[in-house]
Amino acid sequence: MKNQKKILIILSVIIGLGLLWVFKKEASAPNKPAEENASEQVQPTSSPNQASQPFDKKQYSIDDPNSIWVIVNKTRPLPDGFAPPDLVNVGGQQVSAKAASSLQTLLGAASSAGVPMKVISGYRSQYTQTSVYNSYAQKDGVTAADRYSARPRYSEHQTGLAADLGNGTCDLEICFGNTSAGKWLESNAHKYGFIIRYPKGKESLTGYQYEPWHLRYVGKELAIQIYKTNQTLEQFFGLPPSQSY
Ligand code: DAL
Ligand code: ZN
Repeated sequence: MKNQKKILIILSVIIGLGLLWVFKKEASAPNKPAEENASEQVQPTSSPNQASQPFDKKQYSIDDPNSIWVIVNKTRPLPDGFAPPDLVNVGGQQVSAKAASSLQTLLGAASSAGVPMKVISGYRSQYTQTSVYNSYAQKDGVTAADRYSARPRYSEHQTGLAADLGNGTCDLEICFGNTSAGKWLESNAHKYGFIIRYPKGKESLTGYQYEPWHLRYVGKELAIQIYKTNQTLEQFFGLPPSQSY
């Protein structure tokens, strides 16, 4: 009986010392590196040394019509009959799946900011663009129409990566840029991967009048670069201006 008591006391001391050692080790251990905690943490959008690294302009193709960086302008037509293979519905309009969730997020953020907007026009087929352009050309003449409407095969809308947004005030008019919705887009679209593709005062570079409603999805990384440097897509990639066909 006496021996049993002794053994119990010795065991308790050993367990106690063991526990103390484990707790001490936990308390003094450095924090786990971020990679180990990846599943518990929100991944940072950029690593600390990313800022010093040059932006990789070759990350995506600017020629492939299915690339989020494709550049379509008056000198860079899409292949005849091109249609994106991944169209999905956002706000009653079709857009490429590559842009869809970002567009949805942007619309939600705009709504939360008190400037709800709808998608007026997303993907337009070559066939639709033909009738859109022809009706403008008939109404205003070819020279005027060419300043605000793309000819078939030359519209970003045919890629599914463009969306015209509006909220009922100055829809598809230059004055949209002065509305709270237009101003919100100008200041925030890049955060969701979109650029104002035809900015004010850049008609000689883009070939089109100011379109504060026309968003083009290029992904967050490039959109932020374009926003910060205040350049057109053509300027950013060192392409010549796209003034005429
Ligand atoms: N309004 C733009 C330029 C288009 O028609 O694609
Ligand atoms: Zn548009």
